[in-house]
Amino acid sequence: MNNTEKTMDKIIALCKGRGFIFAGSEIYGGLANTWDYGPLGTRLKNNVKDAWRKRFIQERRNSYEVDADILMNPRVWEASGHVQSFSDPLLDCKECKMRFRADNLIDDFDPSAHADGLTKEQMFQYIKDHHIPCPNCGKHNFTDIREFNLMFQTYRGVTNDAKSIIYLRPENAQGEYVNYPNVLRSMRTKLPFSIGQIGKAFRNEITPGNFTFRTIEFEQMEFQTFCKPGDDLDLYAYFKEFGKKFFEDLGLPAENLRFHDHEKLAHYAKAACDIEFLFPSLGWGEINGTHDRTDFDLSRHQEYSGQKLEYIDPFTAERYIPYIVESTYGLDRTVLALLCQAYDEEVVDAEKNDVRVVLHLNPAMAPIKAAVLPLSKKLGEKAMEIRDELAKSFMVEYDETGSIGKRYRRADEIGTPFCVTYDFDSETDGCVTIRERDSMEQVRIPISEVKDYIASRVQF
Ligand code: GAP
Repeated sequence: MNNTEKTMDKIIALCKGRGFIFAGSEIYGGLANTWDYGPLGTRLKNNVKDAWRKRFIQERRNSYEVDADILMNPRVWEASGHVQSFSDPLLDCKECKMRFRADNLIDDFDPSAHADGLTKEQMFQYIKDHHIPCPNCGKHNFTDIREFNLMFQTYRGVTNDAKSIIYLRPENAQGEYVNYPNVLRSMRTKLPFSIGQIGKAFRNEITPGNFTFRTIEFEQMEFQTFCKPGDDLDLYAYFKEFGKKFFEDLGLPAENLRFHDHEKLAHYAKAACDIEFLFPSLGWGEINGTHDRTDFDLSRHQEYSGQKLEYIDPFTAERYIPYIVESTYGLDRTVLALLCQAYDEEVVDAEKNDVRVVLHLNPAMAPIKAAVLPLSKKLGEKAMEIRDELAKSFMVEYDETGSIGKRYRRADEIGTPFCVTYDFDSETDGCVTIRERDSMEQVRIPISEVKDYIASRVQF
């Protein structure tokens, strides 16, 4: 009997084989820490975005979505502190020339050491005192630790003139902050209100990626709530819980989620907490962050832009710079967590080594909602008509090759919650058999009811 343990390698193989995620620029040998989403991965990602939009923008009062440019005035990144402080502590092995993050070396050596609370000097001393070896060559001969800015730079115009440097945004948040006065005015809203955004962010990460967990280009779903100073800590506590509930609704069970309160805070934060998910092979990893950013961002933008960003309370005429509570979600990490959670190998018949690989995805997240299967190719035309009708409402696929059993298994492997089989009886009774992925139970219902049957079960 093959080993049915859930591992990241098996999940990566399924993702590549079944069109979820491919290595970036694969025919050229790839590009480290880049991945492309295939047809099914793109659907899954879009379903997560839709769910986020529904929960954060549509259902919440006073919530607005923006779509800001990736390239922003470079002064934004001076004001935000990223030019000055958005860096990783790096050191090189003098023997094999490999480069590492000092905090990762320490955490891998002893996770209880909490490297994120140490200064550069303390990290260097710790590595020396504990004789931590180079993970590549095993020697102990490192350079000093230097701060390495994570922002990607590019140049505007034709010359590589330093004056024309612009940055690929390392977080979405600043696009929301600089639009605070625009949204406040154009939406005629009042505090507290929120601005959300889904979009790409870029970071020059040097550590090996663990599949899509750490990449140099990734998507964030960020949500910024602007509030009166003093209301921030309640909102901070609220959004921690709201985030956990959102993940549970997506399909991540509470026992695989935990909060991690930060000891060492980013340059902008008064309080910070991650939600972590228990990934197979990798262990606990951050998928979300909630940050109380105080008035740091808007004060800095007011200072650097010279524009007044004060809020005037319409009832009391009080003036103040709003505080911001941020709730940020890594889209790629969320998708990876959903795939990891859903992956399962069920032993059907141990003697025959028959194992069913199935993705138990929340039906609302499944890339394909139903597979339409004619029992025989002779029934293909009618089955295809059902496929076309259902396709007006959701993503469906048509599959006529191989035995029904094999077709069920193919659908299970990509998490399709329903298989709709059109058989010879369907010609006379006008009914089809619907087989459910997880229970494998079957019901027979009229063709005219199939759309509603599925639609009611794939809602987020
Ligand atoms: N605006 C605040 C901010 O960007 P962050 O904790 O640095 O906070 C937010 O990033 C989320 O973005 C993380 O919780 C994580 O899910 C995701 N993320 C960060 N770096 C990433 C990377 N290199 N690859 C993939 N996802 C990443």
